[in-house]
Amino acid sequence: MDDLYTLVNKVPSKKDFIDTTDFDQVEILDIIKTARVVRDYLKSGGVLDTLYHKNLAMLFEQKSTRTRVSFEVAMSELGGHALNLAPGAIQLGAHETIEDTAQVLGRMCDMIMARVDRHASVEALAKYADVPVLNGMSDYNHPTQEIGDMITILDHLPEGKKYNDIKVVFVGDCTQVCASLMMITTKMGMNFVHYGPENKWLSEDYQKIGRENIKKYGGSVTVTDNREVLKGADFIYTDVWYGLYDKETPKEVYMKDFYPTYQVNDDLMNATENPNCKFMHCLPANRNEEVTDSVMDGKNSICFDQAENRLTAQRGLVLHFGHAAQATLDYIKQKEGK
Ligand code: CP
Repeated sequence: MDDLYTLVNKVPSKKDFIDTTDFDQVEILDIIKTARVVRDYLKSGGVLDTLYHKNLAMLFEQKSTRTRVSFEVAMSELGGHALNLAPGAIQLGAHETIEDTAQVLGRMCDMIMARVDRHASVEALAKYADVPVLNGMSDYNHPTQEIGDMITILDHLPEGKKYNDIKVVFVGDCTQVCASLMMITTKMGMNFVHYGPENKWLSEDYQKIGRENIKKYGGSVTVTDNREVLKGADFIYTDVWYGLYDKETPKEVYMKDFYPTYQVNDDLMNATENPNCKFMHCLPANRNEEVTDSVMDGKNSICFDQAENRLTAQRGLVLHFGHAAQATLDYIKQKEGK
């Protein structure tokens, strides 16, 4: 049986967590393993302080509920501290460059997490800071969301199915969350579908990453506007139809692209022909636009488990990139007398 307390990669193979494409399947599974063991231990009343006196700087160029709260709570639960460096609160963008900010934060803090407008900014932080940098979402991807989503999918794996039997269908716009879901599901050898209008399909560059994953791990990538593809889905996932990067788009423009065909409603869920098909959403949601209340609040919705697993994931990530994952698992194993 798989040893829950032993990691293959006892230290991270890369300093930073910018893109899951930088890591192989085994290392991603190490992070997920740590996250799930720590979740169970804390839920059973265990206490941890393996990040005692460690500080995480959290840089936000945009608003956040889940990413901000989950990282702050994870650091606090593990004995460390998180600094919320919200827009307008520090010199970044006004009097100081990202490169200089990276060097300063790297000298005062043990890790940096950043949500940025442009992906190049998080890459610059990683280049100029001597400490690990974690990508809390850019216009290219959302890798910390990927870890939480994969934990949620594994928590709700249909009975009797293995990873490579799973079909995950993303419905709607090719947001960075859609791209990220494609990256992590194909890394796990699952079957990924993007079902959306042709002018909103995942780009060829993203699809190429999926195809590279399939070569190594199995699974498939399909991008289509054919509704037949919904049949047999195990998970339906959607995201808002307009995001942080195109919020000035008039509502009637995006409604024309997506409504009513790509709204996740009871008809769309029934089209899966799978009464156990689960509904996922990274949140926040525009209720009754991309998803109806009946689906979001329905019995097959796991979107709030998914939100909770952002915290599960962040614990695994700060421990792994804070070089404390194996020590934490050793400690839990000893406390549990195993
Ligand atoms: N899903 C997600 O990243 O949520 P926040 O924008 O609230 O962090």
